[in-house]
Amino acid sequence: MTTRYRVEYALKTHRRDQLIEWVKGLLAVPFVLHSQPTAVFEPQGTSVDETALVTQRRYAEIMRDVEEIVNDHIAHQQAGTHDRSKLKLLVPSVATFFTPLALHDAFIWQDQRRFISWRRFVPPSFNDVRLVLNTAQVMSLVRNGPLELVTFDGDVTLYDDGQSLTPDNPVIPRILQLMRRGSRIGIVTAAGYAEARRYYERLYGLLDALHASNMPPSWKQNLIVLGGESNYCFKFAGDSPDLLKLVPRNDWLLPEMTLWQESDITELLDIAESSLRDTVKNMRMDALIVRKERAVGIIPQAGHKFCRETLEETVLITQKILEISPVGRRLPFCAFNGGNDVFVDIGDKSWGVLACQRFFGGIEGGKTLHVGDQFLSAGANDFKARLACTTAWIANPAETVQLLDEMGELDEMQQRKTR
Ligand code: IMP
Ligand code: MG
Repeated sequence: MTTRYRVEYALKTHRRDQLIEWVKGLLAVPFVLHSQPTAVFEPQGTSVDETALVTQRRYAEIMRDVEEIVNDHIAHQQAGTHDRSKLKLLVPSVATFFTPLALHDAFIWQDQRRFISWRRFVPPSFNDVRLVLNTAQVMSLVRNGPLELVTFDGDVTLYDDGQSLTPDNPVIPRILQLMRRGSRIGIVTAAGYAEARRYYERLYGLLDALHASNMPPSWKQNLIVLGGESNYCFKFAGDSPDLLKLVPRNDWLLPEMTLWQESDITELLDIAESSLRDTVKNMRMDALIVRKERAVGIIPQAGHKFCRETLEETVLITQKILEISPVGRRLPFCAFNGGNDVFVDIGDKSWGVLACQRFFGGIEGGKTLHVGDQFLSAGANDFKARLACTTAWIANPAETVQLLDEMGELDEMQQRKTR
């Protein structure tokens, strides 16, 4: 591994999403050709709205072309030749698409809210494209509804990092609304505890609201929690003091997961722990090691904040050591940067989402949406959910609320159309 390679890898690959970067690059061309920055000091020229509409048409045409390239990739997937699709050549990191993406319509939708085409100095950004992709995904899911399962990450997606889902959280009525429309809900979080009480403490706002709601009792059963990525399953239980009941592993594990050997789990966690200990020592980190039944991690000593670079270094070293170990090839694991901690969990969110799909009777990836904040390719734990279902990449809990409102609005439009 040359130094150059390490610099490229460490600075770029895992901190970029190649599909988003590619779309951003395509949109940069009409921005350069049509955005007319000089109009700011030449007020007699064409109006802002006229210029914007020309630019919007160009952007939207590009999004239509990308939409078709995605459709071509899906056709290749169905024929078993996805490695030969045009999109795969252009963006080698793309994997499976579970549904088409309504990119053209989504661009217009977001443009009416973010005024991307009206900008003359700031080109379409990473966040613009990320939000257009989210809208395109939910448009497609709603149009080909019903959306049968929505899974949510916890920290940063439902509540701020390290906080709890308190009763005033605006996401609560939106999740209940989704349940009333018939969607099942899974909270797929890395937070790993074997006791219901710990999850009640993190999620009580939502659990209490569901308990108090006038929803039929059988519908309330449509919420489960999958903790430790894919290690603990709890179902809603109105008669339990914590409103959650542990589901025995044998009742929900996928057949492949029953093959995970206890001896392998211990071996993998031992290797991870020793790597974490080395990094803590070498980087002089004020950290405590936390070893659990299905995870090992480092957390800061009281009041301490780790810098991003240290956290990423710790994840990348541990991940690499595990990847090259024989047990790391036998057993799925997830090493990630939790904002101010680093954890290595047994399994990952693809297994967590698959377990939710199975729990609810075998829901397909194209009828499932996972909403999360960690979608970078290394050191992020929601990324793996892409193997199991469609996804939306949000940046904070307010964006989750916005996304759910968008879904509600699109759903109403769809209902009106079919009436
Ligand atoms: P998520 O965003 O809901 O996936 O939660 C991630 C956070 O859960 C981590 O950053 C940790 O602070 C916390 N956490 C608590 N226990 C565990 C564990 O066993 N594994 C991983 N993360 C944990
Ligand atoms: Mg998160």
